Amino acid sequence: MYARPLFPGRWYFWTSLAAFPDNPRLGSAGRGGYTLPVMNEAIRPGPEVPPQAPQPGLRSPELSVVVPTFNERDNVTVLYRRLEATLAGIAWEVVFVDDNSPDGTWDVVRGLAQRDSRVRCLRRIGRRGLSGACIEGILASSAPYAAVIDADLQHDETQLPKMLALLKSGKAELVVGSRYIEGYKSEGFNKQRAGASALATEVARKVLQVEIADPMSGFFMIRTDRFGQLAPKLSEHGFKILLDIVATAHGGLRAVEIPYTFGQRQHGESKLDSMVALDFLGLVLAKFTNDAVSLRFLLFAMVGGIGLVVHLTTLFIALELFKGPFAEAQASGAIVAMTSNFILNNFLTYRDQRLNGFAILRGLIAFYIVCSVGLLANVGVAFSVYDQEPIWWLAGAAGALMGVVWNYAMSGLFVWRKK
Ligand code: GDD
Ligand code: MN
Repeated sequence: MYARPLFPGRWYFWTSLAAFPDNPRLGSAGRGGYTLPVMNEAIRPGPEVPPQAPQPGLRSPELSVVVPTFNERDNVTVLYRRLEATLAGIAWEVVFVDDNSPDGTWDVVRGLAQRDSRVRCLRRIGRRGLSGACIEGILASSAPYAAVIDADLQHDETQLPKMLALLKSGKAELVVGSRYIEGYKSEGFNKQRAGASALATEVARKVLQVEIADPMSGFFMIRTDRFGQLAPKLSEHGFKILLDIVATAHGGLRAVEIPYTFGQRQHGESKLDSMVALDFLGLVLAKFTNDAVSLRFLLFAMVGGIGLVVHLTTLFIALELFKGPFAEAQASGAIVAMTSNFILNNFLTYRDQRLNGFAILRGLIAFYIVCSVGLLANVGVAFSVYDQEPIWWLAGAAGALMGVVWNYAMSGLFVWRKK
């Protein structure tokens, strides 16, 4: 019996050697001196695609237009027609990334795709999020350039050829459709949102040293090779994909901005609610601390703090108003606090993975179990710290920290787990 080696890559190497002693890929070095390059050669499959010119008529696209959609049934066909008109002469494709819209947007896109192979639909189930949708859409492209544009016709698609020309000339690696520079005119932006957006832009520029004028824009075009390098460090949460790209590149991405008119939404409604401020804060925090602190953890800890207040209030009411015995009063405090923590976390901390319907009950029970074990961990750590160093607040804080880290880690695994 062989022990399973630590690295699966090596495991594959040795087993493949055993299975194919005359493996021609190993060459002469296969018998005797194993050198590292030969090892890698054996692990990696050879190039499967014969190096020949693309078949005539099967031009691969030069530009992928990525369109994130959620409930945009009435907009996608119009956008497709407009793309077709404006991108004549360019080898393009459009990738709609739809988060299983209840209005069946994906079905309309499928219909378009059945008639035109330049149209593709990426239907994601059990997931929500604009940034994540854009990332997956761009990564699904093998074209050298990719654009992101809203489905609701608020962005000006006639700018796309100009954006592409800028990238192809090598003058830029990223072109941003910007609402703030000279020539900017806005039809679809109310005062309140314009104010919030300007404030967020200022924060981004000061804190993250992002130089571009409109890092909140949802309309841009980028070289896919550069995007591919940045992609592993991008956050799939929230709305601010462009800000994330620029902040993650740390000034290493040559950007050009072009003005455009932000139009009125044609059909349906905006999916941006007041919670986007929270998403934005989370992104700034994560990028500022080099991904050391996540907003999710901070929110979870904050909810835990609120839980303590809820617990003490319930305890007080049970003892003073209902004159209950202490043990029962304390238990009611714990249950009320755990329940309110669960509701708050479901609403705030995990709003992108919010549990609905029957899943709420299952999640609540899992949360009770996680928190009960967390309490044991909390007390255990506090005890052992107190044993070594009898300082009550130090032991108490160490226990509480242990509890919240445990609850956070386990909740992510068992309560709001990713599908
Ligand atoms: N797949 C997917 N998943 N798509 C989504 C989701 C989601 O969870 N949420 C929104 N979308 C899609 C919408 O269907 C739309 O095509 C696009 O993303 C933008 O969403 P809107 O709801 O139209 O946002 P907005 O118009 O208020 O804000 C847009 O413009 C701002 C200014 O340019 C967004 O692009 C913002 O990111 C941008 O800052
Ligand atoms: Mn929009």
